[in-house]
Amino acid sequence: MTTPQDGGDRRDDGRYGEAVFRPEQAGEDDRIDLGALTYDDTTLTRLLKLGAGPHWHCLDVGAGTGTVARGLLRRAGVAAVLAVDRDVRFLTAHPTPGLTALEADITDPSFDPGMFQLVHARFVLMHLPSRQEAITRLAGLVAPGGVLVLSDAIDVSAGAAPPNDPYSRTMRAMWQGLRDTIGTDITWVTRYPQLLHAAGLRSVAAEVHVPPLMPGSPISRFWGGTWDRARDALVGTGLVDDHVIDEAKRYLDSPDCAALSPGMITSWGWKPEEAP
Ligand SMILES: C[S@@+](CC[C@H](N)C(=O)[O-])C[C@H]1O[C@@H](n2cnc3c(N)ncnc32)[C@H](O)[C@@H]1O
Repeated sequence: MTTPQDGGDRRDDGRYGEAVFRPEQAGEDDRIDLGALTYDDTTLTRLLKLGAGPHWHCLDVGAGTGTVARGLLRRAGVAAVLAVDRDVRFLTAHPTPGLTALEADITDPSFDPGMFQLVHARFVLMHLPSRQEAITRLAGLVAPGGVLVLSDAIDVSAGAAPPNDPYSRTMRAMWQGLRDTIGTDITWVTRYPQLLHAAGLRSVAAEVHVPPLMPGSPISRFWGGTWDRARDALVGTGLVDDHVIDEAKRYLDSPDCAALSPGMITSWGWKPEEAP
């Protein structure tokens, strides 16, 4: 078990892809793709602004179905992308010139894929224990002059008087349930800039994108599908039951939906050039 001091607060030894979000469960690739449909444009726009382009060798960590890796190749024209995931079935299903899939667990101390101009991880570190250690490890894979870009979920809806409607209750149960089962923790994501700086990166910056929650939108469908897949974990918190989750799903689909979705915080930092 890790401790809150190193950014981890796991209640058990569960891991992403085991108790929930199992890649072998039908439709898991479609769920990941709904997240990608929501965020790929924001991600790739940022990576292009940071200079991703010809001659760049890139590492995409926890690459999922590979949409960012393929976007880097097609939109940015980078030289190559190494797409790493603990399960590469979705990556190998769509072979793409320039994209190499590598099955590896990035928390494994022997994980050492080389150095890259761009190291990118989206919606991965929030599911891992020992985040500071993971960030330090990923910073070590950035070549001098290169950039580490990390995106994770941020829930900006938590205020002084959090709403108690089925949607808000279900969202709270989701974060609690994922924390209880696989150790997911988004409470620390606003500390990304400091963690990147502590890992020796400079010119650190961050931005937040919150997608509009509209009936039928990819993000609405993503949340509905995520709640279904993690339903046992949500109900297990005692914060909601099946009825509340179903109410929340109907609300997402209804024209009366008027709520704020969790969004994505992206932070980045540059590895200083080596002294001449
Ligand atoms: C929420 S998905 C995000 C996929 C992709 N980055 C995206 O944004 O579309 C998380 C991905 O990280 C992978 N993953 C989780 N823990 C991992 C680990 N320890 N090592 C490598 N990959 C991991 C999962 O298998 C999954 O594909």
